[in-house]
Amino acid sequence: MKVVITGGAGFVGTNLSRHLLAHGHDIKILDDLSSGLASNVPDGAQFIEGSIVDAQLVKKTISGADAVVHLGARGSVPRSIKNPIATHEVNATGTLNVLEGARAANAHYLFSSSSSVYGGNMALPKNEEMVLKPLTPYAASKMAGEALSLAYAKSYEMPVTTFRFFNIFGPWQRPDHAYAAVIPKWIWQAMEKQEIIVHGDGEQTRDFTSAATAVAVITSALENKITHPEPVNLAFGNRISLNEILLDLKVFFPDMKIKHIETRTGDVKDSQNQPTLIKSLFPDVKPQSFKDALVETKNWLAENSSKILNGPAATD
Ligand SMILES: NC(=O)c1ccc[n+]([C@@H]2O[C@H](COP(=O)([O-])OP(=O)(O)OC[C@H]3O[C@@H](n4cnc5c(N)ncnc54)[C@H](O)[C@@H]3O)[C@@H](O)[C@H]2O)c1
Repeated sequence: MKVVITGGAGFVGTNLSRHLLAHGHDIKILDDLSSGLASNVPDGAQFIEGSIVDAQLVKKTISGADAVVHLGARGSVPRSIKNPIATHEVNATGTLNVLEGARAANAHYLFSSSSSVYGGNMALPKNEEMVLKPLTPYAASKMAGEALSLAYAKSYEMPVTTFRFFNIFGPWQRPDHAYAAVIPKWIWQAMEKQEIIVHGDGEQTRDFTSAATAVAVITSALENKITHPEPVNLAFGNRISLNEILLDLKVFFPDMKIKHIETRTGDVKDSQNQPTLIKSLFPDVKPQSFKDALVETKNWLAENSSKILNGPAATD
């Protein structure tokens, strides 16, 4: 299968492209390297450096593809609060460009939305029927992206799969940039014997999914052409607090020091999915356990962190 991956030089994209190549697929990556790394593009994948904001380039890149996995985005909440126009341009208008490319190529289109679209809707666990209340420009831009994706499915009878990723973590996730995700950041800070910074009291909870599990779901959607007329929450119902992660890490790093600072604007307190839909659409995917994935991430960073350190600052 010929698969285009936008944002394929990023964390999820590199995990996915490596897996799909190993499964014999033909991979083309479109990435502007604004937060991803050229060295993340695996041997055997074709790489085009450019932006999804460039509609002509997007169309040309997708032409002839069987499927497009659209991961390219400005992926940080604080960055979107700082620069909402740029976030909208990439995450909403860029998504429209990718949809147009997929429509012209008659390709299966898979989108990566975010659980942040639930925002101010505090009800738990989350399901796909709930009212969305985005609290940040990032969440609003992802909501626009998923609305466009579903509208294209209906208006043009396009095969579309719209995932809402929750918190994905694993190998290849950058630990050292300003908006790094907690798990790689804390592992790396502990490895470097730096103080671990916790925003708030650490009682926040998240539904963490390993990169391997997310990749298994996306691969199954591609290979079995699984589409759905509504968004699909990609998370399996874990509810793990940041303090639990700190306890797990203490086993490996008994001397680690923790410092609590103020909570971050736009951060929600709790997140957990009701995984009924994802389990019914992907019954064969057995999610990796949180602890196994945490150990895998720690071991990967211990051996490979030099591959992903000092990437683009991505703070504009
Ligand atoms: N990782 C998570 O937990 C999580 C959670 C919710 C949603 N998501 C979404 O999943 C997708 C992948 O996330 P990730 O964690 O791999 O992030 P990432 O930042 O590692 O990857 C995103 C990639 O998109 C590229 N990109 C940014 N702007 C671009 C543009 N204009 N044109 C082309 N490429 C561009 C970046 O250079 C980067 O390589 C993103 O859309 C993100 O919003 C991720």
